[in-house]
Amino acid sequence: MLEISNLNVFHGNLQVVWDLTVKVDPGELVTLIGPNGAGKTSTVETIIGLNREASGSICFLGEEILGMRPNQVFRKGLALVPERREIFPGMPVIENLQLGAMGRPGWRKELDHVYSLFPVLRERERQRAGTLSGGEQQMLAIGRALMSEPKMLVLDEPSTGLSPLLVVQMFRSLEQLGREGMTVLLLEQNVRHALELCNRGYVLENGRIVLEGKSKELLHDPHIERAYLGI
Ligand SMILES: Nc1ncnc2c1ncn2[C@@H]1O[C@H](COP(=O)(O)OP(=O)(O)OP(=O)(O)O)[C@@H](O)[C@H]1O
Ligand SMILES: [Mg+2]
Repeated sequence: MLEISNLNVFHGNLQVVWDLTVKVDPGELVTLIGPNGAGKTSTVETIIGLNREASGSICFLGEEILGMRPNQVFRKGLALVPERREIFPGMPVIENLQLGAMGRPGWRKELDHVYSLFPVLRERERQRAGTLSGGEQQMLAIGRALMSEPKMLVLDEPSTGLSPLLVVQMFRSLEQLGREGMTVLLLEQNVRHALELCNRGYVLENGRIVLEGKSKELLHDPHIERAYLGI
């Protein structure tokens, strides 16, 4: 569904991602894990067209999307939940979700789906989004992306800033999304949770993929154990 090949990403003269190759099949949950500054956000911003200082290839559903504008990529069905949860704090939860649907006729059904994934959003429906906790705002950001009924979801560090309990809830909701057949690329620093959720993973360090494989194998890789799992 998504095929990134030999991607190089720049910020001005500074190259931050080198020769990145990542593939996500339909219905797959795949994680790209890496520490602070590894290049995760730079990569997602390139995928969805926010940063166009890049070379290589990004194919989505067989079509080259590198160089397209964010709204074009979005209309093809690729939705990003950004690192900074860009919700509208002064608007109620439900209006934030309705905005995500952008006037689609089937929005009520999708709203029920979002509420089934994140029941707390139903309880807080009328509350201004800015008064939600950090974790609830993250759920709202994911919910809003889902309201557009995307074909694929890219999540940039959804667990950042969440309490351990909320992290578990968040990953459960993502697991449910996966069971429903959604295709997901998850960028994370929470290596254990990300690998336990996803079937496959890539490890990004200093802008380069240093390891890739089945999550089960990565969880027992000596480098991962030492550098990320504290074993
Ligand atoms: N707009 C920018 N201009 C210059 N350098 C940038 C810019 N944005 C990011 N960088 C640099 O690119 C590198 C990768 O940063 P990026 O934000 O992609 O990493 P990340 O993996 O998302 O990190 P984090 O986990 O902290 O979010 C870093 O060295 C960062 O300083
Ligand atoms: Mg980042």
